Amino acid sequence: MKKIILITVLMVGSLFAQVSKPIEVPYIAYTIKKAKGVDTLQANCLMCHSFGYVINQGAQPRLFWDKKVDKMITHFKAPITKADKKTIVDYLFKNYGNGKLK
Ligand code: HEC
Repeated sequence: MKKIILITVLMVGSLFAQVSKPIEVPYIAYTIKKAKGVDTLQANCLMCHSFGYVINQGAQPRLFWDKKVDKMITHFKAPITKADKKTIVDYLFKNYGNGKLK
């Protein structure tokens, strides 16, 4: 019985546990290189996520970027037109590419 009371007191006590200071969630603004086509990326990618995903991939071949944009279109239903896709892949390869086609 004592155990049950003790457990109940501990459980209820945790419901009222409070943090006295306000908690700040850090905001990280990932900026990408300003170059030809950057506005097309801003219009087509930022609606779902930050540019952190792009930057964190490291330098990649053209085919990698082509497939990534295809993945956004087919799997995640990103509404990206054919013309915009070309601009985006050109931009990604030029600015975040490793010089290799595949
Ligand atoms: C419709 C929403 C949507 C749009 C628009 C979108 N993405 Fe994504 N993207 C996602 C989701 C969902 C993930 C996966 C998140 C996860 O796995 O945690 C992702 C992940 C990624 C990744 C990480 C690698 C991977 O394979 O998961 C990259 C790189 C990426 N996106 C690039 C882009 C680029 C470049 C654009 C613009 C051309 C874009 N995304 C537009 C939804 C979107």
